[in-house]
Amino acid sequence: MKNQIFILLVGVIFLYCNSKNEVTESTSKPQTTPKTLKETLPFPLGASLSPTKLFSIAAYRKTVDAEFSSVTAENMMKMHIIHPETNRYNWLRADTIVNVAKQNKQRVHGHAFVWHESTPNWVKGFQGDAAAWDSLIKSHIQTILSYYKGKIGSWDVVNEAFNDDGTWRNSVYREKLGDDYVAKCFKWAREADPSVLLFYNDFGQESSEKKLQATLDMVADFKKRGIPIDGIGLQMHTHIGISDARITNAIQKSVETGLKIHISELDVAVNQNNTANFIYTDALKNQQSDKFLHIFKTYRQIPQAQQFGITFWNVCDSDSWLRSYFKRPLEYPLLFDDNYDRKPVYDKLVAEMQK
Ligand code: G3I
Repeated sequence: MKNQIFILLVGVIFLYCNSKNEVTESTSKPQTTPKTLKETLPFPLGASLSPTKLFSIAAYRKTVDAEFSSVTAENMMKMHIIHPETNRYNWLRADTIVNVAKQNKQRVHGHAFVWHESTPNWVKGFQGDAAAWDSLIKSHIQTILSYYKGKIGSWDVVNEAFNDDGTWRNSVYREKLGDDYVAKCFKWAREADPSVLLFYNDFGQESSEKKLQATLDMVADFKKRGIPIDGIGLQMHTHIGISDARITNAIQKSVETGLKIHISELDVAVNQNNTANFIYTDALKNQQSDKFLHIFKTYRQIPQAQQFGITFWNVCDSDSWLRSYFKRPLEYPLLFDDNYDRKPVYDKLVAEMQK
């Protein structure tokens, strides 16, 4: 009896070990790693970054390192931060982003020399004649461009110069430098670095035909007058309610200029009315997936030489400016959820982009 029990035990142990071996063998076989989205794309995939988060949130850093091939400083290269006083530049926080990008072999896109919303008080209060104003803005642009020469190959030179109705936006720059201030800024940028790519960046071209047309007219005018411009940034802060046709229209008409096109600040809002007790239902998730898929599919079809890349504005949902800036806590506009986990749309994009 003892012998029979022993033989049974040995048999059980043998079977157990064999089954373990099978598991070990099968898991030790080389696995095919699922592709990241950036690996499936013929163009760079970017995100806007905060230097503080890069060093304070491990999951943020890990996601940035693994998922993106291009970065934009969300705020740190804006005038009020990088040039806070007349003769003082504050490079530190912008440098942090440039250095991390270098370690990760990521491209850095510069954002933005001139934007009405980032005008520091010392500029608002500046007293001087037309020549002094020209010199102030020229020096601002050329100092930053020269400092980052060789490290940043492209810049948003002017951001959001048009109103939604296609008229020029009034700003201190337009008042002091004159109606042609956008052209002046592009010329000053080109003077400082002949090889840097110069972008005009704006939002809402998919929702306002007039604003889109104003941008196209400006580009045509620049070309006629020999004003340098290399690209158009379509910010694409959009939402699930926008029609695919409007998105296609904005991309295709911009492509017709022959310039590089940057989807420069992408997010697709689901709760744009800031509804309290909003629920991010499966139906809404699917609508949002479809919108992302449409944007990526349309963009992939444009000539490759014009694909500057698609940049998301922020990394995961809880980083989104839509939550902090608009105090809209129940907003989920990106590819990564609050825990930096990929949402189902991520895999859908990977599958679609591999076709
Ligand atoms: O860092 C301070 C914090 O110390 C303070 O307690 C808090 C109180 O409000 O403000 C924090 O600064 C905020 C900063 O974002 C960082 O979160 C500023 O108030 C806020 O104005 C700033 O908003 C930025 C906004 O541009 C204005 O510069 C957003 O982060 C940024 O995402 C947004 O980005 C713009 C693009 O540059 C151009 N296109 C539109 C896009 C969205 O507005």
